[in-house]
Amino acid sequence: MKPSLLIARKIFPETVERLRAHFALDWHDDDVPLAPAALAQRLQGKQGLFASGTERIDAALLDQCPELRAVCLMTVGYNNVDVDACSARGVLVSNAPDVLTETTADFGFALMMAAARRITESEHFLRAGRWRDWRVDLFAGAEVHGRTLAVLGMGRIGQAIARRGHHGFGMPVVYHNRSRLSAAQEAELGARWLPKDELLRAADHLVIVTPYTPQTHHLVADAELALMKPTATLTNIARGGVVDDAALARALREGRLAAAGLDVFEGEPTVHPELLACTNVVLTPHIASATVPTRRAMCELAADNLIAALIDGREPPTLLNPAAWATSRAAAR
Ligand code: DGY
Repeated sequence: MKPSLLIARKIFPETVERLRAHFALDWHDDDVPLAPAALAQRLQGKQGLFASGTERIDAALLDQCPELRAVCLMTVGYNNVDVDACSARGVLVSNAPDVLTETTADFGFALMMAAARRITESEHFLRAGRWRDWRVDLFAGAEVHGRTLAVLGMGRIGQAIARRGHHGFGMPVVYHNRSRLSAAQEAELGARWLPKDELLRAADHLVIVTPYTPQTHHLVADAELALMKPTATLTNIARGGVVDDAALARALREGRLAAAGLDVFEGEPTVHPELLACTNVVLTPHIASATVPTRRAMCELAADNLIAALIDGREPPTLLNPAAWATSRAAAR
């Protein structure tokens, strides 16, 4: 008998058909995520779950779904999953790294540039019919090339952004991360590690790319914003909650920060009303990885992980909890 699988949201039909060849499928073919009770109910008797970054997978859910063996996400971020609770129950968890790195870095860089060069603000002005004449300071923004790019969180995406800044725009790059890059990596990226406070003081353009964890909650709040230059920009493509959005809106409104580019928000899809009221912020609906080829690749990687775990008995390629793999292997023997 085929193992059974719940696909918890609308995804590309090609991936669904690929999975249908291997699994007894239940597909929630909808963009509105299942509420926790409905998710638990739909998972009854299922061994696999194809999920995104929005379904909450915690101990309460796992306890209701004792047959679940693998949770495979199509996103790289996995702060919606309690990995320890999964490991304790022998449930494999995978995410989707690498396939979205360059695409997400492209977007982060574009968002930073849009904020610095006031692109959406000036477009709204033009569309509103307010463009009457050429002016020497019309939407004069912040310089990008040659200015200091500060990367907070130097994982794969942070490095890809640093590479763009260093090689493409001649930007001195500084970064802060728990672990430092090797000397060779720093040389390739032209990047220098700084303590967080010094990074914030040095930044002309701060790009935030850290995972969201209890340790990174409000990593940038009032005190951190106070260290930044009033001419600087802040771009967040990490997760809502890493930045204190209310503090950021105050800094933008009071001219303590020049501009911001935000793709992620605390409590999204709700956006802080004071951010919506600021003109010097570019707001996008969590789309940094959204190109068709990349979103397809993310879906396919989640499918690869499910097939490895539940069909082939192989270690899933992007497994997050190898301890659970050892447990599940021991149980299978
Ligand atoms: C990710 O993959 O984590 C992106 O932020 C999409 O949610």
